[in-house]
Amino acid sequence: MSKQTILVTGGAGHVGSHLVELLTANSNNRVISLDNYFNGSEDNHIAGAEYLRGHTRDIETLVPETPDLIYHLGEYARITPSLDEPALVYDMNITGTFAVVEYCRFHKVKKLVYAASSTRFAVEGNGRHQNPYSFTKSVNVDLINDYGKWYGLPYAICYFYNGFGPRERGDSKYATVIAKYEQQYLNGLPLTVVKPGTQKRAFTYVKDLARGIMLTGEKGWGDGYALGAEHSHSILEIAEAFGGQIEFIDGYPGREESANDTSKARDELGWNTTVDIMDYILEFVKEHPLE
Ligand SMILES: NC(=O)c1ccc[n+]([C@@H]2O[C@H](COP(=O)([O-])OP(=O)(O)OC[C@H]3O[C@@H](n4cnc5c(N)ncnc54)[C@H](O)[C@@H]3O)[C@@H](O)[C@H]2O)c1
Repeated sequence: MSKQTILVTGGAGHVGSHLVELLTANSNNRVISLDNYFNGSEDNHIAGAEYLRGHTRDIETLVPETPDLIYHLGEYARITPSLDEPALVYDMNITGTFAVVEYCRFHKVKKLVYAASSTRFAVEGNGRHQNPYSFTKSVNVDLINDYGKWYGLPYAICYFYNGFGPRERGDSKYATVIAKYEQQYLNGLPLTVVKPGTQKRAFTYVKDLARGIMLTGEKGWGDGYALGAEHSHSILEIAEAFGGQIEFIDGYPGREESANDTSKARDELGWNTTVDIMDYILEFVKEHPLE
């Protein structure tokens, strides 16, 4: 069997690094990551994968060989800070992704798999209008669906819910909530809950997301593979699960609910989740007892 070349954009990031890890475990795969290290890290590199440094906008020159499959995760990926830097979001997500889609069209890539955001479904389908990040992610879903119609682009789109787990960043303004709470907890600080705290999220284990997008690449076609945990929890419930003090702060709470119908991924791909967020937090607290 000849080797399959797979390009993962954003392969040095949180979910991307777990996807690279899964893909490199199959010796039939040659795995290449393209990442601009805006939020990625060399600490996330996996032995056996090849790493290219650069913006997806330059994919044409950076990736001379045509991959069989492209998993496209390399985008600006955080909601709250996106409101402060829309130009950066536009550059990385709109300009970058347009180049990726054009690359797929010209090179006749056998499948493009896109990591979309579940925020598209929020606020009764108006989630795209809540912030620059959600807007660009939703535009890219439209773009890829339209390239399917206009040019016969072969593609599959999956939607991630809030990822948590190993290699999650707890530092910087791009930190995500579970890693941020772990750091606050370890530093003996109160856990900061953005008011009102009732906003709910379907926290989903990062290795389950990675397996879900890999399965979408293997078996999925078209739009609609939502990859989310079955149960959502409010941010306050999550903070309380760590124990200790809580401080309510002002900030951007995002959508109130996390709408999730994950039946397509579960039925068509046989996807499921293996780690529940509450068990994960309980385990973390057990391993790090406070004095
Ligand atoms: N983690 C989640 O909860 C979640 C939820 C919904 C959607 N997603 C999507 O999944 C993907 C991965 O998310 P993540 O949480 O792992 O984020 P991440 O920031 O950890 O990973 C994204 C990676 O892409 C790189 N990158 C960004 N723009 C790039 C560009 N233009 N060219 C090359 N590299 C670029 C970053 O340096 C980073 O390493 C993103 O597309 C994100 O929008 C994630």
